[in-house]
Amino acid sequence: MAVTVTSPGRVNLIGEHTDYNGGWVLPAALSVSLTATLMPREDRRISVSARGYSGTAERTIDDAAGGDWSDPAVGSIIEAINLGLLKGGADISVQSSIPAGSGLSSSAALVVTLLKAAREAAGSSLSDTEIAVAARRVENDYIGVPCGIMDQMAVAISKPGEAMALDTSSLEYRVVALPKTHDMVVIHSGKTRKLTDGRYAERKEECDAAKAAFGTNHLCLLDPEAVEAADIDETVRRRARHCATEHRRVHASIEALESGDTCQFGALMVASHASMRDDFEMSLPAIDALVEDAVEQGATGARLTGGGFGGCIVACVDRAKRSEWQEALLAKHPKARFVDAITPE
Ligand code: GLA
Repeated sequence: MAVTVTSPGRVNLIGEHTDYNGGWVLPAALSVSLTATLMPREDRRISVSARGYSGTAERTIDDAAGGDWSDPAVGSIIEAINLGLLKGGADISVQSSIPAGSGLSSSAALVVTLLKAAREAAGSSLSDTEIAVAARRVENDYIGVPCGIMDQMAVAISKPGEAMALDTSSLEYRVVALPKTHDMVVIHSGKTRKLTDGRYAERKEECDAAKAAFGTNHLCLLDPEAVEAADIDETVRRRARHCATEHRRVHASIEALESGDTCQFGALMVASHASMRDDFEMSLPAIDALVEDAVEQGATGARLTGGGFGGCIVACVDRAKRSEWQEALLAKHPKARFVDAITPE
């Protein structure tokens, strides 16, 4: 029997690269989404056809990942077999409006969707959190991207119009209602990137070096003053400083959003962007300019979102001024484009 499942893309409002350093994140589901239909097969073949991707791929459950667009699908089927949800391959068709390489979790959406479809096909009672954990394994162990758990949890669980305050250590989370006066607008910078291009892994290695230097697995829980005082390499200090301060900004943002203080949230977004630019060094000049102009044109705050080195920014904008703001920003940045907006009701 064929099973069809849809998952949203996500934007991270604040808390970047904290999810593999023991910290909190604040992602939110978008209206762009991915839908997949999965039909289990008796043999070992995996056939994937994807509109908006690269056509059709014919693979098998014995294939290793090879940098192909269909790797996440193959990894998902292998994981579903390991979980006892499938016995063999599958015929898969995918339709997606989540732009790939944009920091909006198109890969996590594909993996989570296929694992949920396999769960339904098997009539299994695995929880959404268990699905997210399994989906991260596909990225880490099969595809070879050393990502954290944020994208998988957001895509598997969060609903459009609300944010998810997630402790990535315990996987406990709560829903944060977003102010109805402001929109969270996602603008693509025009620069795409891939988590598999090595720069994400480089940051992960630098964080591992910082963990060794400080003797902790939880860089985010370090006291920023202790980070300043330590006798360590300057790059390691900058990476650790980003993690420790970004984690605190997530908590402050949750408080600001819950009390409707969009000015304070905007200031935290701006501080987060500066930390990503200067301490984590994951931005690009074109993205810095886009963020700066987003604020100059009247956004309460703006920042790069996702893994970095390209992709999207997210801006918090007064709903009444939004269309004027967007028009002015896109006129100044012709390569940028509107992707999605969260407009809580
Ligand atoms: C990517 C990864 C996430 C997270 C972000 C940065 O989206 O998949 O696990 O690390 O980058 O915050």
